[in-house]
Amino acid sequence: MHPLHSSFEKRFGQAPAVIARAPGRIEFIGNHTDYNGGAVLGASIQQGVTVAAGLRRDGCIQLATLGGGPAVRLDELPKQGRSGSESWINYPVGVAWELFRERTDLQRQGWNLLVESDLPTGAGLSSSAALELSSALALHHLTGLDWSRRELVLAARRAENDFVGVPCGILDQGVSGYGSEDALVFIDCRGPDFSTVPLPAGVRFWIFNTHQKHALVDSLYSQRHNECRQALRLLQAAGRRIEHLIDLPADEVDAAVAEFPAAVARRARHVIHEHHRVLAAVDRLGGGDLAGVGELLYASHHSSSELFENATPELDFLVANLRGRPGVIGARLTGGGFGGAVMAVTDESYTREAAESVARAYRERFGSPLEILPTRPGPGARLLYPEG
Ligand code: GLA
Repeated sequence: MHPLHSSFEKRFGQAPAVIARAPGRIEFIGNHTDYNGGAVLGASIQQGVTVAAGLRRDGCIQLATLGGGPAVRLDELPKQGRSGSESWINYPVGVAWELFRERTDLQRQGWNLLVESDLPTGAGLSSSAALELSSALALHHLTGLDWSRRELVLAARRAENDFVGVPCGILDQGVSGYGSEDALVFIDCRGPDFSTVPLPAGVRFWIFNTHQKHALVDSLYSQRHNECRQALRLLQAAGRRIEHLIDLPADEVDAAVAEFPAAVARRARHVIHEHHRVLAAVDRLGGGDLAGVGELLYASHHSSSELFENATPELDFLVANLRGRPGVIGARLTGGGFGGAVMAVTDESYTREAAESVARAYRERFGSPLEILPTRPGPGARLLYPEG
């Protein structure tokens, strides 16, 4: 029996009816391509979020985290999100709103939810999408709904956009929802369409988390979003009949954006070339050219740093330090940027000692510790109980 079973029983005095788990994700390549209709490759990882849930008869909703304080008790499904230490409930509550939108009977239904996570927060591994997807699967099963995986993934993203209020693309929820132990998730974000690309056995990921976050990280993300939209509008105004920024042919970018405000031009150049790097990475993976994939990862980081300007001196230092080390295939910043983490893709020969030496160099240079998290591809969101 899953250990969360007895914790749930102790907490709520009933057995859980469902236990679901969803993984965190790594953005393998495709930085800020998702909300521009581009392509992105991601990996679901071993670490993730597990939730147990059960129905209540009294219409109340209680949400708790394993090892956390008392449960948050709600008399009804709240229309507004919480802030501060209870803001984590916005993810399951937002998902509940999406699932129960057409069902007033389910909106009035009470439930208990217990959350357990082995996914560090703030490491750019999208613990929020993992919580959304695990909650979506659990509430979906609990209330006897019959949605497809695709519908659940899209609902989780809407919850994040509309209820939590973060204007993210589909990368995080898509990868957590469609992940696989031996493949990367490829998303064509126009559909969006989800598929997988086999990953050779023995590929490992190492996350180097700086724990540095730009104080304005959320507004910088929105600002980049707006700059990309501005680039698209300017291109359309100039007569380009394109729907997404990435529809502009790569060899026409430089001329097409030459007269744009300089920052907007840089964002467009990054996004369009990054989209093509993702497609090239799929080709090279298909051809077994891992070294070639590594070159694309470094090129992606360089472009994020120079053109999208979402790297930091810390992230640049880490990528430069990792490059060329034995066992390292490639490295780049992963996720939104403006701080956060660098991901290294390695083969099996890469060791903890090698990673520690990166951390020592980092500490010498910046005077602060670096968190090292080794991981590897893991399964996507799934029911653990009853077995899915
Ligand atoms: C964050 C967002 C994603 C994506 C990345 C950048 O992780 O949640 O949707 O935009 O940034 O690629």
